[in-house]
Order: sequence, then structure tokens, then C-alpha cells
Amino acid sequence: MEIKGAETTKYALVTGATGGLGKAFVEALAGRGYHLLLTGRSEQKLLDLQSELKEKYPELSTRIYPADLSSGADRYAMMSKIAGERIKFSLLANVAGADIQKGLTEYTQEKIAFQCRANFEAAVSLCHFAIENKAERLEIVNVSSVSGIYPMPYFAIYSATKGALTSFSQSLREEMKGKNVAVTAILPGAMPTREDIKEQIKGQGLWGKLAAKTPQEVAEVSLKAVKKNKRKVIVGFWNKVMRATTWWIPTAWRMRFIAKRWSKISKDAF
Ligand SMILES: NC(=O)c1ccc[n+]([C@@H]2O[C@H](COP(=O)([O-])OP(=O)(O)OC[C@H]3O[C@@H](n4cnc5c(N)ncnc54)[C@H](OP(=O)(O)O)[C@@H]3O)[C@@H](O)[C@H]2O)c1
Repeated sequence: MEIKGAETTKYALVTGATGGLGKAFVEALAGRGYHLLLTGRSEQKLLDLQSELKEKYPELSTRIYPADLSSGADRYAMMSKIAGERIKFSLLANVAGADIQKGLTEYTQEKIAFQCRANFEAAVSLCHFAIENKAERLEIVNVSSVSGIYPMPYFAIYSATKGALTSFSQSLREEMKGKNVAVTAILPGAMPTREDIKEQIKGQGLWGKLAAKTPQEVAEVSLKAVKKNKRKVIVGFWNKVMRATTWWIPTAWRMRFIAKRWSKISKDAF
């Protein structure tokens, strides 16, 4: 069924919509008048979010698509459903991500595939889908992480997939020049979204306090940046300072330091 006014109405697809940062994107986009397509794994969380939005923004249409984005089958089912609705995208926010943190030998084969696919493959695949189904102008926000800047022992797959997403995003931006598609990689530092991350930020003392940004701040920075088609944005003054002042430290020293810190943390949040 064709959606009336599909060419003029603005639709945004947000992955990880039910998480801390995803919800902040959803709120910021609803405030800007976007109709919303929301995905996450849990149907119940999506239904709850949808009814909150219906109450707050009755004029907006919100559609939900429960899907495990690490599964090709789930992604294709979601894409065919959306394509059948003939929706043209004005914005894609690739927010979903899995931050499993442990040494490689502690992983199962399934978890390795899950983390790589959820963090990288799914974002790439949805960029392709959104470009194929773009409105006149399309903005793509790929949520990466400052953790993707350097190799991070004991957070190795996460940092590698985020590094890959940052790299991919920048290349895609170049490929899309002159095609009315803006692509921005967002590199946030810590955000107090889940309880375990809040505890981690607290444990970092003054640095944690200075460097952490709220999901609302990160969503706002992201939407302003993609409007200007910025290539890559490290969010927050202190995260920028960290990047600018530590580049000269030899990689071997940096990794030794990171390994010492991160080997004490093990989490399997998903
Ligand atoms: N929080 C931080 O400190 C921080 C820092 C830098 C970067 N980031 C990045 O920011 C993004 C959001 O982080 P957050 O803290 O808001 O996370 P979060 O609160 O844990 O939310 C994660 C969201 O992603 C969804 N999701 C996870 N795996 C999925 C999968 N396989 N398929 C589909 N949906 C999936 C979750 O849905 P379900 O709950 O239904 O599974 C949820 O909506 C992530 O990409 C993360 O790597 C976070």
C-alpha cells in the first residue's frame, strides 16, 4: 500500500530505538516532525515506546519492526515489509550496537558473529537499503564510538567493529557526494544509558564526570552534524582533547595501559 504523501513527508528509521541513545534520537526526531520507523529486538519495548510517542505526538506516525539486526533473515524481512509500504527515507540513524567486553578466548563462535554483525554488517546493510529508498535528500548517522579510534585489548571486537564503521562511513560519504546523501560518523565517549555503564563512568572519577555526555546531547550533536554533512564527530570537548593530546603515545604503550584496565572488566550485556 502506498503511503499518501510519501514523497513530501519526512520518515526516519532508527535502529536501537529502545535503548538509551536510540530513545534520545527518537525524541529529537519526533520534536523535528519526522514520522518514525523504530527497530529493536524486543517487541514489548517497541510497543511501549510506540504508545508513549502516540500520546506525546499524536500527529506523527510511528511504525515498529522487531528484528535482530545481526540476523540476515530478520533484516531482509524488515526491509521487505518497509519496501512494501513504499516509504522513502529522509534519515537513517544506525544506533543499535552490542558492547560485549571480554578477551577473545571467552567468546563463543555465536557471540563473535553476533557482535560483528550487529555493530557493522547491519549498519552497512541498512545504509544500502536507505540509499535505495531515499527521499529527495537522505541523512545517515552512523553511531560509532571513540573506542574505535585505537585497538583495545579485551574490548577488541567492539573497538574493531566501531573502527570499521567509522572508516566505512567516511568512504560512503565520499561516494555519495553530489547525490544528496549526507553521511556522518558519530564517535561518542561514555554516555550514562544502562546501569552498568553508569557504574563504569562513576568508577572513572573526575575523568568520567568530565568526558561523559548525556544521550540527549549526543543525539542533538549528531542531528546538527549530519545536517551539515560533517564527516566525523568526536562528541564532547574532553574526548576531543584526549584524542588531540594522546596521538603521539606509542601504540604498544597505549595498548599495555588499556589491557591492564580492561582485563578487569567482563560484560556480556546482550
Ligand atoms: N553508552 C555508551 O557509553 C556508548 C559510548 C559510545 C558508543 N555507544 C554506542 O551507542 C549506541 C547505543 O548505545 P546505548 O548505550 O544506547 O545502548 P543500549 O541502551 O544498550 O541500547 C541498545 C539498543 O540496541 C538494540 N540492539 C542491540 N542489539 C541488537 C540487535 N542485534 N538487533 C537489533 N537491535 C539491537 C537494543 O534493543 P533490545 O534491547 O531490544 O535488544 C537497544 O534498543 C551503540 O551503538 C553503542 O555502541 C555507546
